[in-house]
Amino acid sequence: MIINLENKNALVCGSSDGIGRSIALGLAAAGANVTLFARNAEKLGKVMAELDSSKGQQHAMLVADFSDTNAVKLAIETACLSNVYHILVNNTGGPPGGPITNATTEAFYAALNAHLINNHQITQAVLPGMSKSGYGRIINVISTSVKIPLKGLGVSNTTRGAVASWSKTLSLELAPQGITVNNVLPGATSTGRLSSIIETKANKGGHAITEVEQEMLAEIPMGRFGTPDEVANAAVFLASQQAAYITGTNMVIDGGRTGCL
Ligand SMILES: NC(=O)c1ccc[n+]([C@@H]2O[C@H](COP(=O)([O-])OP(=O)(O)OC[C@H]3O[C@@H](n4cnc5c(N)ncnc54)[C@H](OP(=O)(O)O)[C@@H]3O)[C@@H](O)[C@H]2O)c1
Repeated sequence: MIINLENKNALVCGSSDGIGRSIALGLAAAGANVTLFARNAEKLGKVMAELDSSKGQQHAMLVADFSDTNAVKLAIETACLSNVYHILVNNTGGPPGGPITNATTEAFYAALNAHLINNHQITQAVLPGMSKSGYGRIINVISTSVKIPLKGLGVSNTTRGAVASWSKTLSLELAPQGITVNNVLPGATSTGRLSSIIETKANKGGHAITEVEQEMLAEIPMGRFGTPDEVANAAVFLASQQAAYITGTNMVIDGGRTGCL
């Protein structure tokens, strides 16, 4: 199967690093014009320089801090005045860990704003362009905690459930237009996010980093962490013409860790 995204414009959020960066690289390699969107202009500039432009792709970037929903709204609404995005990847940094019994209301507001509210307002801004152009792919990077809550990630688990439910509802409303909405659910994937989760666990429990890593690896049937590129491959497929009849689904990329279908 050859995925060709030439003449498609993709907006990739949280794309200065980790999974978002790999998705941006993958979409550009398939021929898409990519707009990067995150908070750190310097890091975004470096990623932009790495994007494939061998087929004449034109790349761009938007800068806003996703903890400021008004700034995100302004940035995306301004960009949509002069751009159509056929592919949207909703993604940003995950909420901090911790048990739900200790979670503050502020932590819930912050996580729901960064994930649910931003996803919603970015989607609302790009939808008219998708509808008019006749091509729309919305891909949400969430987590396997949509299926089974992960220990010690109380606010994150709760927020992921809300985003997944939002996504499924959206997919039903947009299916008649042929606009698809799907989720990729990464398992433990080697990025800065994973390193910081491992470090926090090690510090809290007084364990060595390698000890925590071994404990996590023991839960993964494939016995290794995923790579950001492995998650990106799923997202690129969901962005393609070939995935036109797939909507409202979760694609789990976790080396077999999640103990349910
Ligand atoms: N890695 C895993 O094992 C794993 C597993 C399950 C789910 N996930 C979820 O998948 C998503 C991506 O994870 P990742 O591992 O790729 O994370 P990551 O390596 O930490 O990358 C997160 C990206 O989001 C950006 N970002 C973070 N906070 C931001 C903010 N306030 N405003 C704008 N941009 C911001 C980061 O930019 P900066 O460089 O500026 O921080 C970076 O580009 C997260 O929701 C994560 O929880 C990850």
